[in-house]
Amino acid sequence: MNQGLSDRLSHKLSTMREQGIFKVLRHIEGPQSAVIELEGYGEVVNLCSNNYLGLCDEPAVMQAVKEGVDRYGAGTSSVRFICGTFTVHRELEEQLADFLGTEASITYTSCWNANEGLFAPLLGEEDVLISDALNHASIIDGIRLCKAKLKIYHHMDMNDLAELLRGSREARHRLVITDGVFSMEGEIAPLPEIRELCDRYDAIMVVDDSHATGVLGETGRGTPEHCGMHGEVDIVTSTLGKALGGMAGGFTASTRDVCDYLTQGSRTQLFTNAVPPHSACGAIAAVRHLEAHPELVARLRESTAYFREGLLELGYRPIEGDTPIVPVIVGETADAIALSNQLLDEGVFVIGFGFPVVPKGQARIRCQISAAHDREHLDRALDALKSVGRRLGVV
Ligand SMILES: Cc1ncc(COP(=O)(O)O)c(C=O)c1O
Repeated sequence: MNQGLSDRLSHKLSTMREQGIFKVLRHIEGPQSAVIELEGYGEVVNLCSNNYLGLCDEPAVMQAVKEGVDRYGAGTSSVRFICGTFTVHRELEEQLADFLGTEASITYTSCWNANEGLFAPLLGEEDVLISDALNHASIIDGIRLCKAKLKIYHHMDMNDLAELLRGSREARHRLVITDGVFSMEGEIAPLPEIRELCDRYDAIMVVDDSHATGVLGETGRGTPEHCGMHGEVDIVTSTLGKALGGMAGGFTASTRDVCDYLTQGSRTQLFTNAVPPHSACGAIAAVRHLEAHPELVARLRESTAYFREGLLELGYRPIEGDTPIVPVIVGETADAIALSNQLLDEGVFVIGFGFPVVPKGQARIRCQISAAHDREHLDRALDALKSVGRRLGVV
């Protein structure tokens, strides 16, 4: 290896270790679930996965993946437009469109790729792209690849958004993009207000609903359903990698023309393989399972309310909200890290975030609830939060 690069990396890594911001990867033995087998720690209650509906180890979903391997083999071995499109891709795309109330959808190997490949084909120099300041990294990277003029509005600030739209009237197109649910705070974007502004200024409305698909709304159709706007967002991107079975895959749902156009020009579609067919089979089974069991969404909502209530009784201050993302502010980074480490020692896996991921003084642990948790899991987690929190003096 080149000596200069080796020296620089080694110096940077040592600094990260000294500052306590070096990420240590934990290894899971077995499937994602309410309780997981964590190497070095044994069985722990899992409060940090996006397995919101518990479908990662749902037998019907796992069986569909296995049958997918038997039917379609190990992988696609080609990009979509050459010879990597399988009948199961069409079936999944029709199902996702139907689920979200759009004309069509197009799948990618991840929502990262869906976002990265979205803007550049649709917009050019004569257009304006307006993005929430706290949008996901994949949106930010997708925007960097697009020639449209970029404007950023203060996080969820509708006056600022209106101002930017007003100043963009001369552009050919205006496109507004927001996360449906912001993953660090669990906040829900104000979609009705954004829709109203987009209509007023003739703008295209795009929502990345990765943390809401399968989670929000009576039937899990996401933030638009939660806001009474099912099918009213122009373009929705989302993932198959969270509530819908945790598989590799993402998608863009919109009109037939938008999806056809992305098939022609979206680089993360044109120059990389498609979703593995067995994952597509698993995702189809996951959506079917959700449609047949809307009670999972209700259970997730009830468990989240129970957990939030428990935290408040213990004296914690979770950020208020309606999503299964329950961040608990503890203040200093060292407190969040100590809390997370000691909770793990007590059999509860929950990640701590500090500066610079979140603002100074707002270090937190982020708890994520799943429909797979039953009361006993949540009580175990709350018991550990009680004893560790008291020991550390954070409650
Ligand atoms: C808002 C948002 N968008 C996109 C992604 C990327 O999803 P995927 O894992 O399918 O690439 C994530 C994942 O964390 C996310 O939170």
